Amino acid sequence: MITVKNIHKSFGNRRILNGVSFTAEQKKVTYIFGTSGGGKSTLLKAMVGALKPDDGQILFHDTDITGLHGRGLDPYRKKIGMLFQHGALINALSVGENVALPMRWHTTLDDNIIKIMVKMKLEMVGLRDFEDLLPNHLSGGMQKRVALARALALDPEVVFFDEPTSGLDPIMTSVITKLISDLNRLLGITCVVVTHAVEEAMKSADKIVILYMGKVLAEGTPQEIRQSADPLVQQFITGSPDGPISFSASSKDYREDLLVG
Ligand SMILES: Nc1ncnc2c1ncn2[C@@H]1O[C@H](COP(=O)(O)OP(=O)(O)OP(=O)(O)O)[C@@H](O)[C@H]1O
Ligand SMILES: [Mg+2]
Repeated sequence: MITVKNIHKSFGNRRILNGVSFTAEQKKVTYIFGTSGGGKSTLLKAMVGALKPDDGQILFHDTDITGLHGRGLDPYRKKIGMLFQHGALINALSVGENVALPMRWHTTLDDNIIKIMVKMKLEMVGLRDFEDLLPNHLSGGMQKRVALARALALDPEVVFFDEPTSGLDPIMTSVITKLISDLNRLLGITCVVVTHAVEEAMKSADKIVILYMGKVLAEGTPQEIRQSADPLVQQFITGSPDGPISFSASSKDYREDLLVG
């Protein structure tokens, strides 16, 4: 349903995505792994239409969304939800108002209807009694769930998650991972998830995509990935410090992050 074809993106003279291609199938859960600073968020931003790649196509059904601009992206945006890496909740607004935002922006629904829908979305993420609180009065895991409720506001076909479990304890990581599986299984939502929680992802993914050096290193079912003979792939799934991916390579990525960030 979403086909990423030969995506390139550079910032200044640094090439971040260098011909990324893969498919995220309809009603399936696709997990994306990669090194820190390797371009995962950049890729997701391109997939939601928030960033224009320099080259390549992103096909949603048969529409190339890289060719859409401004309000031309609205029909696509109504069908997708995005959980950003860094929350992106508005702290001046209550939890309920944060969840209501996409409904106010994209629909002409009556206020009473919006209130009911907000309650339903918060119920789905286990936060039904929290709508009047401010986001910064919630724990990190709860904030992620509020962001998820907001991503679900318009009953999306696809939800993109950028590190939905980063900074969370192992139990909350499992809770969020299960929530993603449930959304997929019970509601048929297509999920595309960037994560470092490799073990959790390997248990619940339909497909794994590993991004390395600006390209797709491997794409397949968890079983296919586990059986890969490529030492790079093995290092990704075991998280070993010893292997072809050196510490100096990743610390260079961190330095570059700091320079930009
Ligand atoms: N708007 C931008 N302008 C310049 N450089 C950018 C911009 N966005 C990202 N970069 C750089 O592109 C590289 C990839 O960034 P990106 O956020 O996509 O990485 P990531 O894989 O999501 O990393 P992490 O795992 O730390 O979230 C980084 O070096 C980053 O500094
Ligand atoms: Mg990122």
